[in-house]
Amino acid sequence: METSFLVFFTLLFFQRFGTSTDIMIMTSSNVTCFENERQSLLTFKQGLTNTHNVLSTWKGVECCKWQGVGCHSRTGHVVKLDLRALVSLETLMLDDSFGLHGKLSNSLENLKHLRYLDLSMNEFSGNIPKFLGSFERLKYLNLSGSGLYGVVPHHLGNLSRLQYLDLRNTFVLDKTYDDHKSFSGYFDFSEAVIVDDLGWVSSLSSLRHLDLSGVTIGEHINWFHQVNMLPSLLTLHLACSGINLPSIKYVNFTSLNSLDLSRNGIDSIIPIWLSNLTSIMHLNLQFNQFHGQIPGFLGTLNALTSINLSFNSFNTSIPELLCNFSSLLHLDLSKNMFSGQIPVSIGLLLRLEDLYLNDNKLGGNIPTSLGKLSKLKNLDLSYNSLVGILFETHFSTLKNLTHLVLSSSSLVLNFSSGWIPPFQLQNFFASSCNIGPHFPNWLQTQTNLQKLDLFNSSIADTLPEWFDNIVSHVLELDISNNQIHGKLPRFHGDISNQRKFRILKMNSNKLKGLFSTFPSNVSWIDLSNNLLSGYIPQTDGRMNPSLEVVKLSKNRFNGSIPIHLCKVTSMQVLDLSQNMFSGRLPSCLGNLINLNVINLAYNTITGVLPRSLGSLKDLISLHLHNNRFQGDISVSLQNLTNLVTMDLGNNLFMGAIPFWIGKRLSNLKTLNLQSNKFTGKIPLQICQLSALQYLSLANNSITGTIPRCLGNLSGMIITTSDYYSTSNYEESILVTMKGRQLSYTMIIAFPISLDFSSNNIFGEIPDGLMNLVGLMNLNLSGNLIKGHIPFTIGGLKQLESLDLSMNELSGQIPQSLTSLSFLSYLNLSFNNLSGPIPIGNQIQTLDDKSIYKGNDGLCGPPVSRSCKENDTSYNHVGKEEDQVDTMSLWFYVGMGPGFVVGFIGLLGSLHFIRNWRVAYFKTLENVYGWLTLLVVLNLARLRPE
Ligand SMILES: *[C@@H]1O[C@H](CO)[C@@H](O)[C@H](O)[C@H]1NC(C)=O
Ligand SMILES: *[C@@H]1O[C@H](CO)[C@@H](O)[C@H](O)[C@H]1NC(C)=O
Ligand SMILES: *[C@@H]1O[C@H](CO)[C@@H](O)[C@H](O)[C@H]1NC(C)=O
Ligand SMILES: *[C@@H]1O[C@H](CO)[C@@H](O)[C@H](O)[C@H]1NC(C)=O
Ligand SMILES: *[C@@H]1O[C@H](CO)[C@@H](O)[C@H](O)[C@H]1NC(C)=O
Repeated sequence: METSFLVFFTLLFFQRFGTSTDIMIMTSSNVTCFENERQSLLTFKQGLTNTHNVLSTWKGVECCKWQGVGCHSRTGHVVKLDLRALVSLETLMLDDSFGLHGKLSNSLENLKHLRYLDLSMNEFSGNIPKFLGSFERLKYLNLSGSGLYGVVPHHLGNLSRLQYLDLRNTFVLDKTYDDHKSFSGYFDFSEAVIVDDLGWVSSLSSLRHLDLSGVTIGEHINWFHQVNMLPSLLTLHLACSGINLPSIKYVNFTSLNSLDLSRNGIDSIIPIWLSNLTSIMHLNLQFNQFHGQIPGFLGTLNALTSINLSFNSFNTSIPELLCNFSSLLHLDLSKNMFSGQIPVSIGLLLRLEDLYLNDNKLGGNIPTSLGKLSKLKNLDLSYNSLVGILFETHFSTLKNLTHLVLSSSSLVLNFSSGWIPPFQLQNFFASSCNIGPHFPNWLQTQTNLQKLDLFNSSIADTLPEWFDNIVSHVLELDISNNQIHGKLPRFHGDISNQRKFRILKMNSNKLKGLFSTFPSNVSWIDLSNNLLSGYIPQTDGRMNPSLEVVKLSKNRFNGSIPIHLCKVTSMQVLDLSQNMFSGRLPSCLGNLINLNVINLAYNTITGVLPRSLGSLKDLISLHLHNNRFQGDISVSLQNLTNLVTMDLGNNLFMGAIPFWIGKRLSNLKTLNLQSNKFTGKIPLQICQLSALQYLSLANNSITGTIPRCLGNLSGMIITTSDYYSTSNYEESILVTMKGRQLSYTMIIAFPISLDFSSNNIFGEIPDGLMNLVGLMNLNLSGNLIKGHIPFTIGGLKQLESLDLSMNELSGQIPQSLTSLSFLSYLNLSFNNLSGPIPIGNQIQTLDDKSIYKGNDGLCGPPVSRSCKENDTSYNHVGKEEDQVDTMSLWFYVGMGPGFVVGFIGLLGSLHFIRNWRVAYFKTLENVYGWLTLLVVLNLARLRPE
C-alpha cells in the first residue's frame, strides 16, 4: 500500500512543480492598478469567510503588489491571480482546513485580462462558475482541489488560448485512496465535479495539459473522440473518472508525455494505439483490470521513464522486453498475478530507482543481476513465492537503497556477520522471511532506520545490546513472533524525536527480566507473551502523554496496577491480562475516558468495582474474568452504553443480575457472568439486548424459569455472528461447548451461544427458544428443567453443541434432532428421557453411550437396551410423535455434507491454529494495512490534542 501512497504524492509533486513552466507571463508589481480591477478583487475578498491571513496584503491602492496578484508590465491590467494554497503533508495531517474558504464572487468576471488563474487547493464552495469561460486570454486554469463542484460549464470551450487545464478533484481521489475497494462512485455527490458532455474540450485547440482526474465523466461519454482533436496534448490525466476504453482508429495526440488512466476499473488488454505515443514518458494504468500479454511494442517506447501497472490482472510472466527500457526510473508491477521468475535481464535497467514486484506469484530465485541496479532506492519483492538465498552480492552496488521489502516470502537472508551493507535503509520489512537463527548483525550499521519489521522471521537469539540504539530512534518496530531471548532493551529513547506516533511490538518472544521504564514517545507498545516479571513501571517517567495502546498480557508481572497509568488519558487499549497483578483496581482508572478496551482477565485483582468505571463512556470491551472481584456490579456501569463485550466471569460477584444491563447496554453482543455468585431470576430486560450473540450465566445460583421472551433475541436469529472489532485489538472469548472450554478469537467469528448450565433454573424449555436459529451452542445442563425437549429443536440448524444433561427432562428424544447436520457434541445424560433413540444422519456419528447415560427408559443403539422388549404403552405414544416429527422433517432438509464444512469452520476459528491465523492476519495487513497504518493511525492521530 505504501507503494501507491508514494506514487500519489509523487503525482501531487509533478502537479505542483512540473508543468507550468512553459507558460511564462510577464508581470510586474510597480505599475498602478486599475481601480475597477482593484474593486473586483476586494469584493472577491469580502465573499470569503476564512482567509487564514493569506490575503492580509490585500489593502491599499497598489493591487499589483498584493500577494498572488500579477499585472501586465506595460498595460497594468491584472493578468495573473495565483491563489493556490500551499499544502504540505504536514498541513494535511495537522489541519483539516487550509486555504481560502467561501464563495467565489462574480466580481472576478471583471478581470477581463486574466491569463493565469490558479485557485487550487482551497476550500471554495459553490459550482464552477460559468464566467470562467469569458476570460478569452486565459492560458492557464487550475481548479484542482479548489472545492468547487458541479457540472463543468461548457463555456470553458471558449478559452481557445488555454494551454493548461487542471480540474482534478482531489476530494474524490483522496477518498478512493482511503478505500480502494471502490475505485469510483464512493463519495458524497455534493462534492462531485461532473462532465455531462466533453464537446467543449475539442475546441481548446492550444491545450497541452489536461487533467480531469477524479472528475466524473462516466462510461457513456466518448472522451477519446473529443480529446483526439487536441494534437498538441502533452499530458492527459483521467484517473478515477469512470471512463472506459473505446476502440480507436487513429490517435492524433502522438506527442503525449504523460498518460494516466488509473483507477477506472478498465477491463481490457493494453491498447495497441499506445504504440503510437512515441514520446510517452509516464504511463500509469494502475487500479484497473488490464490483462493479457504485455505487448512487445512497449519495448519500442524508449522515452518511458515510469510505468505503473499495479493493481491489474496480468497473469503472464514478466516479459524480458521490459528490460529494454534503459531509461526506466520507476517500474511498478505490484498487485497482479505475474508468475514465473524475475528475468535476469532486469539487471539492464541501470537507471531504475523504484522497483515494485510485490504481491504477485513470482517464483524461483532472485537473480544476482539485481545487484547491478546501483540507483535503486525502493525495492519491494514481498508477497510472492520467491525462494532461495539472498547474498551480499544481491546488494553489492545498491548504495542508495532506502526501502527494502521482502516480507512473506520464503527467502533466506544469508549475510556474513561482519557484512557492512553499502546502503542506509529507512525501512526494512522482512516478516516471515528466514533471517535467523542469529540476530542480523548488519542492522547495527543502519542508523537511519525508521521502520523495521522482523515479525516471524525465525530469529532465536539474544537481543544484542546495540539494538537499544535502534529501539530508541525507530518509529515502527515489530520483532514479534520470534524466539528472541535476553533482556528487554533499556528504553532510553531520543526525546527530541518529533514523531509522536511510535509503535513497538516485541510480543511473543522469550524476553525476560524487568520492564522498568516506558520508552519515550511510544504510542503503541506490545510486550505481551514474554517472560517479563516484576512490577510494571511505577513512575510516569518517560510515558508518552499520548500513549494509546499498552499490551502487557501473558507475562509474569505482579504488584498492583500503578496509579500513574491514570494520567495517560489518551489510552485506548489497556491489556494486562494473564499476569499476576493483585490488589484493588485504582479508582482513578475512571480518568481514562478514551479507553475502548480494558482487559484485566486472569489476574488476582480483588475488591469491588470502582464506581468511577462508569465514566469510561467510550468503553467497548470490558474483560475482567478470572479475578477475585466481589460485591454487586456497580450500578454506574449502566453508563457504559457503548459496551459490546462485558466479560465478568469467574469472579466473586453476587446479588441479582442487574436489570439495567438489558435496559441500558443495548450494544452488548457478549455478556459473560458465569461462575460467580449471582442469585435471583433472569431479568426479563435481558430480552431487550437485541444485538446479543453470546450469553453465559452458567455456574451461579440463579433460580426461576427461562424467560419466554429470550426467543426474541434477534442477534441469535441471524446465522453468522458479526462481531464488532476495534482496529487495534483482537477480541477473544472463552466458550464452554462440546464439553470443553474453547478460546475463540474474532478472526473468524464467535459462536452464537447460550449457556445457563449449573444453576437452579426450573420450569420447561420454552418453545420460543427454538426461534434462535443462529445458536451454535446451547447448554442448559445441571438445572431442574422439566418437560419435553421441544419437537422443533431440529430448527436450530447451526447447532454444533447441545447439552441438556442433568435435568429432569422426560418424554422422547425428538426425531428432528437428526436434522442437525453440524451437531458434533450432544449430551442428554441423567434425565428421565424414554423411548427409542432417533436414528439417521448426523446423529448416527454420535454413538457414544455416555450421551444417553442415566435415562433408564431409552432404548435402541447405541444403548444396549433393545426397543423390541419395550412395553406397548409408550410404543404407542412414540408412533404419534413420530408422525409429528416426520412432518417437521420436511422442513429440515440439508444434511451430511454440512457437517464437514461446519467442522472445518470450527477448526479454523480455534485459537490454536496459529500459523494459519497469523498468515491470514498478515495478508489482511498487506492489503489494507499500510494504508490503515499510515492514514488512519498516523495522520488522524497526529492532530494536535
Ligand atoms: C519597475 O521597477 C523596476 C525596478 O524595481 C524598474 O527597473 C522598472 O523600470 C519599473 N517599471 C515601471 C513600469 O515603472
Ligand atoms: C484526429 O482524429 C480524428 C479521428 O478520431 C479525426 O476525425 C480528426 O480530424 C483528427 N483531428 C485532428 C485535429 O487532427
Ligand atoms: C499508429 O501509427 C501507424 C504508423 O504510423 C499507423 O499506421 C497507425 O494507423 C497508427 N495507429 C493509430 C491507432 O493511430
Ligand atoms: C544516490 O543518491 C544521491 C542523491 O540522493 C546521488 O547524488 C547519488 O548519485 C546516488 N548514488 C547512486 C549510486 O546513484
Ligand atoms: C452516569 O450518568 C449519569 C447521567 O447521565 C450521571 O449523573 C452520573 O454521574 C454518571 N455516573 C458516572 C459514574 O459517570
